[in-house]
Amino acid sequence: MGPVILAIESSCDETSAAIIQNGKVLNNIIASQTVHNKYGGVVPELASRAHQRNIVAVASYALGTANISMQDVDAIAFTRGPGLLGSLLVGVSFAKGIALALNKPLIEVNHMQAHVLAHFIDDPKPTFPFLCLTISGGHTQIVLVKDFLDMEVIGETQDDAVGEAFDKAAKILGLPYPGGPLIDKFAQSGNEKAFKFSKTIMPELDFSFSGIKTAFLYFVRDAKKSNPDFVENNLADLCASIQHHLIAMLLEKLIVASKKTGIRQIAIAGGVSANSRLRNMLLAEAEGRNWNVFIPAFEYCTDNAAMIAMAAHYKYLRGEFTSLDVTPLARMAI
Ligand code: KG4
Ligand code: ZN
Repeated sequence: MGPVILAIESSCDETSAAIIQNGKVLNNIIASQTVHNKYGGVVPELASRAHQRNIVAVASYALGTANISMQDVDAIAFTRGPGLLGSLLVGVSFAKGIALALNKPLIEVNHMQAHVLAHFIDDPKPTFPFLCLTISGGHTQIVLVKDFLDMEVIGETQDDAVGEAFDKAAKILGLPYPGGPLIDKFAQSGNEKAFKFSKTIMPELDFSFSGIKTAFLYFVRDAKKSNPDFVENNLADLCASIQHHLIAMLLEKLIVASKKTGIRQIAIAGGVSANSRLRNMLLAEAEGRNWNVFIPAFEYCTDNAAMIAMAAHYKYLRGEFTSLDVTPLARMAI
């Protein structure tokens, strides 16, 4: 029998625990924090407190529903970074506490590597090398994945993440946090050609999303001056247009990355990969370009401990363990 690992994820605003046995994810327990909704974004101090309140219950529930006792666990895995320092600290301290008390090995996981490795939880699985567009509230990266634990970031945002752009655009439209899924929903009945925004030109494979955020803010503000009901009357078209603009920026660079590397195995990961229009546009693009596209199940797109468990499994097999004096890293390269 292969290793049994308890994995913990607490990098942002989801407290999550998962059990993996011999490379098979047995469960994936997620406690989402709703305390941030009224603030229009994650409030770091509130996130740490909520993690602290939930982590014991979430981990116990994961063990209980998998019918695994703490004694059966071969290693404890946790997200070391990148993420919010106070949030990470809760998960790291919890994992260290168990490891120390029960004399179990620790495995640190890079959250961004884990998003990529979410593709190995279910079938079909990509083969190496492949490209992974990792898009979330904190990150926008094109990753060249050479092996399970051998990855290279070949392009990334130089300012905001695309998820942040979705959330800020939603906030400008008066929608609550997190606005990405709401933009996706309202856009379904809108015309994506209704409003046009100018493109931010970035070199090579890099992205920039701060310009469009400001352009959208001014556009909506100016339109409201002459028509106070502008947003209410055009919500679906506004959502569809800004969504289309953001997705086009992502796909444009993904096409360049595929041409440059000659790789046609294309994966997407991270919270924004849940976007329905992105999925459709990517699949349409794939047909014309002979791409093989990989999209994880919805529950493995947003932050979750199953992906941490998957990464930990490969690290366990390679004997990559972490010492007890480990500290979290708010910034951590892949
Ligand atoms: O990966 P994730 O759960 O957390 C981070 O590591 O950031 O990603 C959260 C981000 C948020 O910005 C959220 O608005 C966005 O993913 N998101 C979406 C959709 N679902 C989640 N953005 C656009 N369309 C969606 N359907
Ligand atoms: Zn994430």
